[in-house]
Amino acid sequence: MKVLFVCLGNICRSPAAEAVLRALAQRSGLGAALTIASCGTGDWHVGHLPDPRMREHGKRRGYDLVSRARQIDPKVDFDTYDLILTMDDKNYRDVLQLAPNEAAKKKVRGMCAYLSTRAEKEVPDPYFGGPEGFDLVLDILEEACGNLLEDARRRLAGPR
Ligand code: 4NP
Repeated sequence: MKVLFVCLGNICRSPAAEAVLRALAQRSGLGAALTIASCGTGDWHVGHLPDPRMREHGKRRGYDLVSRARQIDPKVDFDTYDLILTMDDKNYRDVLQLAPNEAAKKKVRGMCAYLSTRAEKEVPDPYFGGPEGFDLVLDILEEACGNLLEDARRRLAGPR
């Protein structure tokens, strides 16, 4: 199963989602069953490591953020990935616009659809805010990725 996380710059939220899901998947023995990647709708930060603030906040919780930013490539990504998860409503609309067909559109979901106890509808962009924004991103992503992993486990087990 192949999962692609998408945000705007691919230096804060989606690289964090990638690192969180990868860590949870590895811990639970699903590491080999999942391909996990991230990208941005924008191209300003292509080639960059994640934002140092996001890296630092991730590191404190045991996540290693080492991806390099890239922009979504509609010609490749909609074919390659099974699930394309966007961080906020703008990312969601932008990615849907790029989808080449209905099958591709069906792969796109908002990350917050995986929340079970939290009320957020979007993962808020932390880029222009203070340190608490980065912790909030991680709080949201940890819950969403936990539920996503359970979902993946059921899908991989197949119908019973
Ligand atoms: P991200 O955060 O979409 O979570 O990676 C942002 C990173 C950079 C910018 C905006 C949001 N920017 O405007 O450069």
